[in-house]
Amino acid sequence: MQLQVSTHPLAKHKLTVLRDTSTDHRKFRELVRELALLLCYEATQDLQLERTAVTTPMGEAAGWVAREVIGLVPIMRAGLGLVDGIQELLPTVQVWHIGLYRDEETLRPVEYYNKLPAAPTVQVCLVLDPMLATGGSAIATVNILKRWGARRIKYLGILAAPEGVDALSAAHPDVPIHVAELDERLNDIGFIVPGLGDAGDRMFGT
Ligand code: PRP
Repeated sequence: MQLQVSTHPLAKHKLTVLRDTSTDHRKFRELVRELALLLCYEATQDLQLERTAVTTPMGEAAGWVAREVIGLVPIMRAGLGLVDGIQELLPTVQVWHIGLYRDEETLRPVEYYNKLPAAPTVQVCLVLDPMLATGGSAIATVNILKRWGARRIKYLGILAAPEGVDALSAAHPDVPIHVAELDERLNDIGFIVPGLGDAGDRMFGT
């Protein structure tokens, strides 16, 4: 299992405010954006580089340039909230949206949007979704990306339930999972406990 739970003090502080029932939609979106930026910093620690040179006002310096093209794959709706913060850090990323919702009865993901081009255009995919609950949505998205031909895939989210981590790790052991916290459990309607409620609803005011 490749689970990375952030130990960064700012991530812990921001997650605590995010969970609070008194945090309004505007503040919630701002915190999700900031957490995405912090988690992206951690999830890109192993990004591959190649040598380059740069001209400074004083002369030539050796430097580095990122070798891999990164694609963000937000799972709609709630994954959209993680895009902005990451784009601040990685302004040239490609963004490929996947639309999935969970059937409220079965908790199984239902696909409703996918406009991936025929062949992969990126070397690293970051699957974005704030909540890893049963893991069904994340597994379905990684299945889609692997069928597409993506080689290196990472999951970046805010909260995970142990059930979701186990399911995603079992289905796709090669996919590292980066989250701000691993919570206690899922409840009987598939919500993470203690969690933060429904991330999509809190983000979009629905
Ligand atoms: C929520 C959440 C994840 C999914 C996680 O989405 O944003 O996408 O459930 O659950 P899973 O791990 O059990 O698949 P939801 O279906 O509520 O849709 P939304 O993002 O449009 O609100």
